[in-house]
Amino acid sequence: MDVHRVDVDDRASLAAWVDVHNAAEALDAPWQTPLTVHRAEGDARYGWDGEPETPFLGCVDGEPVAAGWVSASDYDNLDAAWLGVRVRPDLRRRGLGSALLAALERYVRDLGRGVVGTLGWAGSPAEAFVSGHGFEARAREAQRRQVLAEVDWADIEALHAEAGTHAGDYELVRWTGRAPEDVLPALAALTASINDAPTDDLTWEDEVFPTERIAAYERAQHARGDLLHRLVARHRVTGELAGHTVVAVDGERPAFADQHDTAVAPAHRGHRLGLLLKTGMNLWLRETQPQVERIDTWNAESNRHMLAVNDVMGYRVVGRVVLYQRP
Ligand SMILES: CC(C)(COP(=O)(O)OP(=O)(O)OC[C@H]1O[C@@H](n2cnc3c(N)ncnc32)[C@H](O)[C@@H]1OP(=O)(O)O)[C@@H](O)C(=O)NCCC(=O)NCCS
Repeated sequence: MDVHRVDVDDRASLAAWVDVHNAAEALDAPWQTPLTVHRAEGDARYGWDGEPETPFLGCVDGEPVAAGWVSASDYDNLDAAWLGVRVRPDLRRRGLGSALLAALERYVRDLGRGVVGTLGWAGSPAEAFVSGHGFEARAREAQRRQVLAEVDWADIEALHAEAGTHAGDYELVRWTGRAPEDVLPALAALTASINDAPTDDLTWEDEVFPTERIAAYERAQHARGDLLHRLVARHRVTGELAGHTVVAVDGERPAFADQHDTAVAPAHRGHRLGLLLKTGMNLWLRETQPQVERIDTWNAESNRHMLAVNDVMGYRVVGRVVLYQRP
């Protein structure tokens, strides 16, 4: 198998990469929204916050058979890299996955990263494959989905009102797209609260959020064509940003939305701000993005507080993944 790095301007290779990706996901995770070339381009050009993922394509006799990616951050966790391997369902158990993994690991070694991580759907072939390659299971996450046609809006409104009775010292502020320039330092500090979310047994340092990273995230999301909705709880007396939740509406397929960060700063916990923010987001999207059909979110299985909020709002598990690492 020939493995080559996909040039993001090479539409044919990117489209072939997407086809392999979607064929694999259709088998292992059929509830997943298929990837489009536009979204794959977003990952490869901008990533989440300006650090692109690197796609690789494996071909046999010129025919695309396997798709992989590598990502690594220069903000923090400088020894870590993440990768993924997908093989076309009709060509499995022939060593192609192992060959692509070996090629990606060489790339990771050349980056100078000493710890490599990957992830796979629980109960899928990933488990035997990655443990056979020496990876250890270190954390578990679940993908949850809120289907808006099934939402009981009276319930969401009641939850929002009830949360509000505990949060009288706070006001909600809506920012679409980029937040005002002058709040970016405060948003950076608030974003760092995400480090309190559990990471189980992962070899993982706290992430670092300089102001520039928040601006880079907003720029990257805008460049990808997604519209950020950020709802912030502001402390009325001090003006401090106490908590936020962010949902991105897919610009290409506006029926789909993804939950990004939700975090409440340590000094402001215990006022039901998590529930206030997330129900507030639902109500905001109903008003301004009524075409959104579903919101997907990812959480550590051990994130008790966030899961309690999601469960009461009608999010249901659609898939579970295991995160692995090895030196
Ligand atoms: C996991 C995946 C990449 C494996 O690709 P593959 O080309 O079939 O893997 P290989 O042929 O190199 O398999 C190597 C070994 O892994 C183990 N393995 C792979 N698939 C397995 C399965 N379905 N059941 C049991 N063991 C399996 C076996 O030990 C296999 O060796 P063997 O065939 O000699 O017994 C492929 O199933 C896939 O694309 N899955 C979806 C994406 C994914 O989960 N990726 C894993 C995380 S990176």
